[in-house]
Amino acid sequence: MPTEPELFRARCGFEPLAIGYGGLYKTGMNYTRHSEGIDQDIDPSLDLEQEIARLKKEKNAIILAHFYQVPEIQDIADFLGDSLQLAQQAKKTTADVICFAGVHFMAETAKILNPERIVVVPDLEAGCSLADGCPVDAFRAWRAKYPDAVAVSYINCSAAVKAESDWICTSANAVRVVQAIPPEKQVLFAPDRNLGRHVMKHAGREMQLWPSTCIVHETFSERKIIDLKERHKDALFIAHPECEPAVLRLADYVGSTTALLRFVQTQEAKTFIVGTEPGILHQMKKAAPDKTFLEAPPQEGTCACNECPHMKRNSLEKIYLSLRDLSPRVEVPEQIAVRALVPIERMLSLS
Ligand code: 13P
Ligand code: SF4
Repeated sequence: MPTEPELFRARCGFEPLAIGYGGLYKTGMNYTRHSEGIDQDIDPSLDLEQEIARLKKEKNAIILAHFYQVPEIQDIADFLGDSLQLAQQAKKTTADVICFAGVHFMAETAKILNPERIVVVPDLEAGCSLADGCPVDAFRAWRAKYPDAVAVSYINCSAAVKAESDWICTSANAVRVVQAIPPEKQVLFAPDRNLGRHVMKHAGREMQLWPSTCIVHETFSERKIIDLKERHKDALFIAHPECEPAVLRLADYVGSTTALLRFVQTQEAKTFIVGTEPGILHQMKKAAPDKTFLEAPPQEGTCACNECPHMKRNSLEKIYLSLRDLSPRVEVPEQIAVRALVPIERMLSLS
């Protein structure tokens, strides 16, 4: 049996960056949380919500936030959504400034859609293990092995990888995107192998998969979920397609964050075991206050490894500073942005 690094080398033709807990991703990432990393004093008497509202008006700015943000950020967002809805909203906006409370690839997508607007992020270090696990040179080399294939890249990748792709998809539309490709065409799917396997099953189609994973969704423990289901026999287990296949097999429903949120509102069940980042629970509890939501347990019972360390780098303080200073900004070189826009627009025109 070849080892995982051997498989990776054979498939991708380059050295894995790191393997083990978290799958394949860049080493040396310095995870900090919440407000760590702020190198300037903020007057503690400031009412941050009020100051942010004032700055938004002054700079004609909007805040787009992902469901995995901490509740206090979700509560001040102008628009809250999954990665597809956030891209759609970024395309629509007429604001001069977009403050993107999510992770880097999402803000990059907003910038590609809005080259003339300023896009700021609370923390430039908020990345994604999937994007980090798919360096553009290696992606290009992989594509070159299949010159006639169509490359579909999950939106969780860098702008440079988007520029080398034919289609972009999100977890909300990946099956639809793949089904839109002529059946005689070979399909390459990167970078999330778990979403790729889920799409293969639902689109009824073989694809070549890039082998990266999400460090958050791969941590859920199959055994502990079985135990929890046993203890809550009436509960439905719902999961994001980035989870491992063994976990997805246990799920009563699989969907993007927005799809999961809609599902809990429309079902009669009163208890849900939620197999995704727990940030979404804030909206689930608001939307269905009479229902109970249990976090699916990660493999290590004591850690908070089902929280995305990237999403959780953002804080109200950092949002305030980014709007005040219009920094840090997300920039995409024009020659990459122009090419990356094509597969993004192709996806948006289908969604
Ligand atoms: P959604 O497309 O469901 O928002 O997922 C994005 C993501 O990063 C999940 O980990
Ligand atoms: Fe990336 Fe996973 Fe975090 Fe989503 S939850 S941003 S896929 S590391």
